[in-house]
Amino acid sequence: MKYKVISLLFLSYILLISISFKAGVPEEFLKSLRAQYEKDPKEWPKPEVDSGIVWKELAAMTYPGNSGRDSSSIKKAQLGKLLFFDPRLSSSNQISCSSCHDPEMSWTDGRKLAIGHDHQSGIRNTPSIQNLAENRLFLWDGRRNTLSAQAREAMANPVEMHVDLDQLPAKIRKIKGYKVYFEQAFGKGSKYGEEQILESIAAFVAGISSRPTRFDNFMKGRKRALSDQQIWGLHLFRTKARCINCHNGAMFNDGEFHNLGFSNYGKPNQDLGLYNISGNPADIGKFKTPSLRDVMRTSPWFHDGRFNEMEALINMYTAGMPQPKPRVAQIQDPNYPKSSPHLKKLDINLEERAAIISFLTAITTAPLEFKRPELPSNDLKQ
Ligand code: HEC
Ligand code: HEC
Repeated sequence: MKYKVISLLFLSYILLISISFKAGVPEEFLKSLRAQYEKDPKEWPKPEVDSGIVWKELAAMTYPGNSGRDSSSIKKAQLGKLLFFDPRLSSSNQISCSSCHDPEMSWTDGRKLAIGHDHQSGIRNTPSIQNLAENRLFLWDGRRNTLSAQAREAMANPVEMHVDLDQLPAKIRKIKGYKVYFEQAFGKGSKYGEEQILESIAAFVAGISSRPTRFDNFMKGRKRALSDQQIWGLHLFRTKARCINCHNGAMFNDGEFHNLGFSNYGKPNQDLGLYNISGNPADIGKFKTPSLRDVMRTSPWFHDGRFNEMEALINMYTAGMPQPKPRVAQIQDPNYPKSSPHLKKLDINLEERAAIISFLTAITTAPLEFKRPELPSNDLKQ
């Protein structure tokens, strides 16, 4: 009998604990977080940032608009938009920039790895190309430093558009409908060649930006734009989940490169990232920190598209990301890459991980319907 009472008491104790666990975080805690985050960001709780890291507080997007742009650069962007969507810029006449950077898919392609000319697969995942105007370096490994150099690369790349850039200007000049657009952008009677084509595409790409999200609305004073769970996620993002160490500022990136442990060093599919450009062994396996704006719409993620579920990605961060160990033959290798010292095992439970994902949805918005332009035709009567 005594035993029965004790075990009954014990059971109800367990039941109580599990009920209170299920009920989740105490409301009081969420309330106090909301009160803190509804204040000016200068008064937000201190973020957990490692020493030596230069960081900016998370912030709303700002849109420069057209005020600072002269009319010729607006005309260049208009021409660039046509070129961006025109498959005649590829040797097969089948692939345009928009084949991989599709506005309906937040300017990505939804594939693990890009597929281009002759259905060949590249080795990298197609990133979104929003909000690049202020980027310093482009591509996952930063190998191009201007948007026109980047456009040139995409066109010439044998697994992307595979076009001969010496012949492309003549091919475009033959399309009569383009003449008026080039004249508007570069002046009447001006010659147009590779440089003008690249400059126009770059002007268009520089103007592609993501739309305001619930987070932006919150920052601008609409305090109900974020749910309690999202504010909790924002707090974790800045504190014990440590994301802000690399994903910070209005774009949720730091303009830097980090090794998260996915270089496949020494294997046939190795991708050495920034090292390919810098030649510095310390840069092996480093890739550019991507912006997280609209990230819930740009899966699969990472330079090789290895994650297609956000839960799995966050679980990997929670585990501190893989820390590959050298095989016996590699022990003497002084260049064996080390993962970023800013990655640590995280003490975040499943509910906290869900709150972070909920915050990521609050920095994501569906794109507006985008009307593809009608392409210039060869028949001037049209
Ligand atoms: C076959 C698919 C494909 C096509 C076509 C394509 N891209 Fe890309 N784009 C990619 C991939 C993949 C990457 C990343 C490659 C890398 O990092 O090595 C990329 C990267 C970029 C970036 C860099 C983004 C960043 O965050 O640094 C820009 C800008 C870009 N492309 C613009 C263009 C333009 C402009 C065109 C047309 C001239 C174009 N792309 C055509 C697949 C494509
Ligand atoms: C040490 C710097 C660093 C930290 C800390 C960090 N990230 Fe990242 N993050 C990166 C880099 C670099 C990449 C790209 C890696 C690659 O492609 O190999 C990335 C990629 C991502 C991606 C995929 C984006 C895409 O477009 O492919 C997501 C989502 C992401 N991080 C979320 C987070 C979250 C959430 C946290 C906190 C739990 C976090 N990151 C912490 C540097 C960091």
